[in-house]
Amino acid sequence: MNDQLRTERPKEPFETVVNDEFYTLIRAAPSVHQFRFKSRGANAYLIQGSRRTALIDVGLASTFPYLEAGMRHLGCAPADVDLVILSHEHLDHIGAAHLFNGKALIAAHRLAANKIALRDDFATLRKMFNEPNVPFEVDLWLEEGNLIDLGDFQLRVLHTPGHTSACISLFEQDKGLLFAADTLMPGGVMGGIFGSGSISDYIESLHRLAGLNAKVLMSGHGRLSSTPILDAQTAIERSRALLSDTGQLFDALDARENFEPIMQSVRDLNKLDD
Ligand SMILES: [Fe+2]
Repeated sequence: MNDQLRTERPKEPFETVVNDEFYTLIRAAPSVHQFRFKSRGANAYLIQGSRRTALIDVGLASTFPYLEAGMRHLGCAPADVDLVILSHEHLDHIGAAHLFNGKALIAAHRLAANKIALRDDFATLRKMFNEPNVPFEVDLWLEEGNLIDLGDFQLRVLHTPGHTSACISLFEQDKGLLFAADTLMPGGVMGGIFGSGSISDYIESLHRLAGLNAKVLMSGHGRLSSTPILDAQTAIERSRALLSDTGQLFDALDARENFEPIMQSVRDLNKLDD
């Protein structure tokens, strides 16, 4: 082998099926496709199992036409989807879910389902996206350890909090397929810690994902990756650095002063019942 071949990065084994100005459709594995929207919608994944067809996340309502177009390219209509699995409550992942309501079953971790049911706009980051505010019902409230059987795909539900309290990852162990949404991204890019999230929970979740025998990483944003374990290790290093930085930040703040407005509002609210 010559030097040039030895140092070349191996070509990612993912075939681009469609690449237009609005979205890219990429084959991640047999019967598994990634939809990458060229706007703010998060990635969606279509799994065409031998018994059931599932979507993992659905992007925004504004990107739904491209999701539909890509699905038709794969011989699948939205009405053929049996199950929509939402990785967490952020609107860029769930914005088009109402378009499946009453057709496919919609599933999410119980903490995400609760936020969606209560129409918690702060938790869903509704104001970050200019989207219609259409309510929808979550049919299946998932827990850690649930198994979703699509026939030739068995998706294990892993509760991986950190980015938010309600994040799940899905792992197909026999095929080494990891759907990690915003918990783990290619190259160890961090998804951020939002409202109900926790950097400590995030680090623990990343350790958990690093320990899986994953071969293909399918994330909520960005490209596909064939180095999930390496990606997780990089993300752990970055998260630890973030934890250290935020620790220094809190040290620099006067905690009492910082929390006083919150405590005062709690005291004010409690007075209403006196
Ligand atoms: Fe998110």
